[in-house]
Amino acid sequence: MDSVNSGYHSDLSDKDFERLSQFIYTNYGIKLPMNKKIMLQSRLKSRLKENNIPTFKEYCDFVLKGKGGEAEIINMIDVVSTNKTDFYREAIHFDFLKQHALPEMVVDQGANYIKVWSSACSSGEEPYTLTFVLSEFKEKYPDFDFSILGTDISTRILDKARTAIYPMERVDVVPLSEKKKYLLRGKDQENPQIRIIPELRAKTRYARLNLIDDSYNGIPKDFDLLFCRNVLIYFDRPTQEKVINKLCAHLRTGGYFFLGHSESISAMDVPLKQIKPTIFQKI
Ligand SMILES: C[S@@+](CC[C@H](N)C(=O)[O-])C[C@H]1O[C@@H](n2cnc3c(N)ncnc32)[C@H](O)[C@@H]1O
Repeated sequence: MDSVNSGYHSDLSDKDFERLSQFIYTNYGIKLPMNKKIMLQSRLKSRLKENNIPTFKEYCDFVLKGKGGEAEIINMIDVVSTNKTDFYREAIHFDFLKQHALPEMVVDQGANYIKVWSSACSSGEEPYTLTFVLSEFKEKYPDFDFSILGTDISTRILDKARTAIYPMERVDVVPLSEKKKYLLRGKDQENPQIRIIPELRAKTRYARLNLIDDSYNGIPKDFDLLFCRNVLIYFDRPTQEKVINKLCAHLRTGGYFFLGHSESISAMDVPLKQIKPTIFQKI
C-alpha cells in the first residue's frame, strides 16, 4: 500500500506543527510561522514513509523525544531547509572581489594566500563561483593561492556540493571563457550536466555547521573573506546579531563580510563597517 498517497498519514495538527516549529526554531533558528504548515506537512511525508511511521503525531514523538536519534533530526532539517542558490548570485559581490578586495589584499598588501568561508553554502554554487573568480585572479598573479570552506546545516545539500555535478542550464550565467576552463561536460545528451573540474573541487572542503551553535569549534579564526548570504533572513533579529558576532570572531581584522541582498546589520552591535549596502569590513 502506498500509505502516503492514500492519506493514511492524516494531517499535521496545529499542535504538532507548533511542537515541531518550536523545536526547529530553538535549535536551528529557522522560523516556521503557521502559514508554513502545509509546506512542512508535505515535506515531512517522505520522512514518515522512510521511517514507516503512520501519523504525524507519532513522527513528532519519534523526533522530539529522541527516538530517531540525531540522524532523524538531521534528515528532518534537510527537508525543512530552503536551499535556493545560483552561480554568480548577487554578482556585485564578485565584481567587488575582482575590482577591489583581491587587488587590495594580494597586490597592495602582498597576501599570498586567501582563505574564504562560505557559511551557508547550500549545494556549492556560491563556493564554486568563488573558485572561478579566485582562479581568474590567480592567472594574473600565479604566486598567490586560496582555499574555500563551505558549511551548511543540511547534509543532503553538502553531498551535492561535494559531488559538484549540476544541470547544464544552471551554468548559463557563467562566462564562456570560464566554462571552458573550469567545467567538464557530461556525455548524456538527454540530461545535459556539467561537473566542476577536480582542480577547483580540491580547493574546497565542506563540513556541516549549525550557525545557531554556541561556538564554531574547529573553524579557523583567520578568514580573509566571509560569505553569509541569504540565511540570516530565516532568523530573528537578536539571533542574527549573535550569529554575525560569532562569525566575525573567525574573520581577520580588515577582512570582508558579505550579506544577502535583503539582509542588513542596521542597529546591531557588530564589529563591521559598511563599505557598500551588503559588503562590510571587520574593524
Ligand atoms: C537560501 S540558501 C542560501 C545559499 C547561498 N548562501 C546563496 O546565497 O545563494 C540558505 C542556506 O542556509 C542553510 N541554513 C539554514 N539554517 C541554517 C543554520 N542554522 N545553520 C547553517 N546553515 C543553515 C540552508 O540549509 C540553505 O542551504
